[in-house]
Amino acid sequence: MRTEQPKTIYLKDYKAPDYWIDETQLTFELFEDHALVHSRLALCLNTERHAETALPPLVLDGQQLELQKVVLDEQELVEGAYQVDSDSLTLQPSRAQFELALTTRIEPQNNTALEGLYKSGSMFCTQCEAEGFRKITYYLDRPDVMSRFTTTVIAERERYPVLLSNGNPIASGEHEGGRHWVSWEDPFPKPAYLFALVAGDLCLLQDSFTTMSGRTIDLRIYVEPENRTQCDHAMDSLKRSMRWDEEVYGREYDLDIFMIVAVNDFNMGAMENKGLNIFNSSCVLAHQDTATDMAFQRVEAVVAHEYFHNWSGNRVTCRDWFQLSLKEGFTVFRDSEFSADMNSRTVKRIEDVTFLRANQFAEDAGPMAHPVRPDSFIEISNFYTLTVYEKGAEVVRMLHTLLGEEGFRKGTDLYFERHDGQAVTCDDFIKALEDANGADFIQFKRWYSQAGTPRLNVRSEYDAASREYRLHFSQVCPPTPGQPEKQPQVIPVRMALLDRDGNEIPLQLEGKALGNEAVVSITEAEQTLVFENVPNCPLPSLLRGFSAPVKLSYPYSRDDRVFLAKHDPDGFNRWEAAQGLAVDVLQGLVEIHRAGRPLNLDQRLVEVMRSVIADAELDAAMVAEIIRLPSEAYLIELAEVADVDAIHYTREWLRRALAEALRDEMSARYQILAAAGSGAFSAKADAMAARSLKNSLLSYLMLTGEQQVVGWCVRQFVEATNMTDRQAALVALVNSPFEQQREAALAEFAERWAEYPLVMDQWFSIQAAASQPGALDRVRKLMEHPLFTMRNPNKVRALIGAFANQNLINFHALDGSGYAFLADRIIELDRSNPQIASRLVTPLSRWRKFEPKRQELMKTELARIMAQSPLSPDVYEVVSKSLA
Ligand code: PHE
Ligand code: ZN
Repeated sequence: MRTEQPKTIYLKDYKAPDYWIDETQLTFELFEDHALVHSRLALCLNTERHAETALPPLVLDGQQLELQKVVLDEQELVEGAYQVDSDSLTLQPSRAQFELALTTRIEPQNNTALEGLYKSGSMFCTQCEAEGFRKITYYLDRPDVMSRFTTTVIAERERYPVLLSNGNPIASGEHEGGRHWVSWEDPFPKPAYLFALVAGDLCLLQDSFTTMSGRTIDLRIYVEPENRTQCDHAMDSLKRSMRWDEEVYGREYDLDIFMIVAVNDFNMGAMENKGLNIFNSSCVLAHQDTATDMAFQRVEAVVAHEYFHNWSGNRVTCRDWFQLSLKEGFTVFRDSEFSADMNSRTVKRIEDVTFLRANQFAEDAGPMAHPVRPDSFIEISNFYTLTVYEKGAEVVRMLHTLLGEEGFRKGTDLYFERHDGQAVTCDDFIKALEDANGADFIQFKRWYSQAGTPRLNVRSEYDAASREYRLHFSQVCPPTPGQPEKQPQVIPVRMALLDRDGNEIPLQLEGKALGNEAVVSITEAEQTLVFENVPNCPLPSLLRGFSAPVKLSYPYSRDDRVFLAKHDPDGFNRWEAAQGLAVDVLQGLVEIHRAGRPLNLDQRLVEVMRSVIADAELDAAMVAEIIRLPSEAYLIELAEVADVDAIHYTREWLRRALAEALRDEMSARYQILAAAGSGAFSAKADAMAARSLKNSLLSYLMLTGEQQVVGWCVRQFVEATNMTDRQAALVALVNSPFEQQREAALAEFAERWAEYPLVMDQWFSIQAAASQPGALDRVRKLMEHPLFTMRNPNKVRALIGAFANQNLINFHALDGSGYAFLADRIIELDRSNPQIASRLVTPLSRWRKFEPKRQELMKTELARIMAQSPLSPDVYEVVSKSLA
């Protein structure tokens, strides 16, 4: 907690460490009321920075530790021979190579921040990224210090039969008094943030994988005994990830054993500790009875993500935390390509783009906007952001687009070969891609240094006489904090030109034939492309597959969008056209509503939806995506000043109007899908797609208010063979006016799933997100529920997070009650878990988007948080930047 003003750390101040740690030997003695950590470090001077004749002091990081013993080269140091303050231990070595042995005492059972060594339920576990290792023992806790670790864990055998750490088990034994020990050795040098330890009473799902060179890897998933039956999907996903990384990147797993442990209390999704990944149980457990299809896909993606880190993150790691996107952006790109290969590529892309535009674009436009490679921070935990992860992945995707599949692979091969075992920078990554391809990415690198979402405006001109078609591009990137002016970026635009039948016209650009589809790079602030031999005025299909994370605008009419939605040969852009039409319609309705005039339904949108609902050939998941209206969050992001009430009102109005206009088509398709899906459960892609469409139709149909539909919904709730269908029915009932059915379903659900925390998280969050009036009272009541606790991050996200992020109409209530409620929770949480508290500030930080009255109310709450003392650096950073 803060006593003085937190310090800002700058990338430009980076210096290599004064000392290296070659070997790290750790012994943990775990007890119920404390733990002792004995470390033995083999250190040596960084001779590139210092001469042996002028040894600098050794300054080790450490926080919230009780230092019990310091032994330098076998000599115990007396107090006064070293200095300790709230974040460090300083001592003066007398030789360039020396050994330091330390003992610290910590209290894992009281660690509510869930960083360092802590208890989740009855199990001990660790979370060290980014700077958690310093809460375990004094150390050079920075990613460029890589060391070989040997770890011994000692604990009571009865309570903690399973003792795990990184690498391979090398020895074990018994101690008197019912205690036992296991030693682990990790042969790969690693930074401390990849250290992990687990002790608990866990059961095991075991399998094996044969690598491309024929080695057999022992695969293990450890969970609490009651979850044993929910691990198959994670294990399957793991094996598919291992195979995919071999096939697509040529990367083979290195240790003989790979372990995943599921814990209930975890700040993030999961963590890629070497050989011992620790997961939020929500990202491991999946069974059709308890998990939705979305949860299945998340498990698959997160298992893959953490596994892929073994190369992109662990074998090659980050030099400093400013380079976080080096591992995260790249690894998100890798996991999204994996998911695309395992499922529908187009649908995966639509999901990712939808998420990016509603959330990362908002971050880029807000007070916390920062480049993919930030140049300063106060608290690094605040920079595990959508920009570093999702935009970072988009940047890697653009490199992939520019180099092509093969060129990109040559580049990553060189990157892994050149930097294996090193801690490197984003520049090193780019350099490897450049060197392997003879490419030049000097201008491209602005994507790493400039924050903000570029706007790309496009106009066109057709000259029938010369058969020339001109596209004029102009790009601007709005100012962001600390960056008033931006330079033009490299914007790869994948595109085609369509004739009146929707056929692609062969592209001829400045005398070069480019085929039917091309990627053109826009690099100037203003740039014109002249296409030749264009027989008729075409309609451009631009930014296919969202080939760059920009806001594209082209003056399409609604008729143009209808045409593209029906005829663009590119599936992604068909969706994009339908989505653009829906956005345009909604924005128009918001204006009409604000002017106090009656709303009217544009039949063109009805027709687009009608044609896809009736199209049995089209992938059902695509149909579901096309009929989904843009979210309130996205509409808010798009608005200059967002009118929350008008957006909510018109969007709901449009949903109902569509349901009424398409009632027959929707109910016919719903019934076909319901009948087809009533047999045995399948987790195959087409079965998931069918459920997704069926449930989206059900949610529309419920808006008609017809008794018959309520009957279908209740039946689906009762008879569902899986959680996807059951939950969708529950959501539809909870958001309906049918109070009796809604309350009955909620009660039944709670009774049936009370023993399943992850299922109950859904139950909390469905209610927190329901938009009827009185939501805040309901949330307050739910906080009193025996299964709710502010100590569990999943519960906080399910209830408080869902209310503030998904229930916009209630969160933004004009009496300020939603804002005050959230501020109270932030203040409360900051005392126990600053990382989670800090993440909850986001909705308040967006105050500039709203009208003056709401702005004032939101700022008042931010100021109230700011006035708290003590305040964690985490919350301090986000709140102070929000108010700046
Ligand atoms: N490195 C983890 C991942 O993205 C995320 C994480 C960060 C987890 C910090 C815990 C703490 O895979
Ligand atoms: Zn990651």
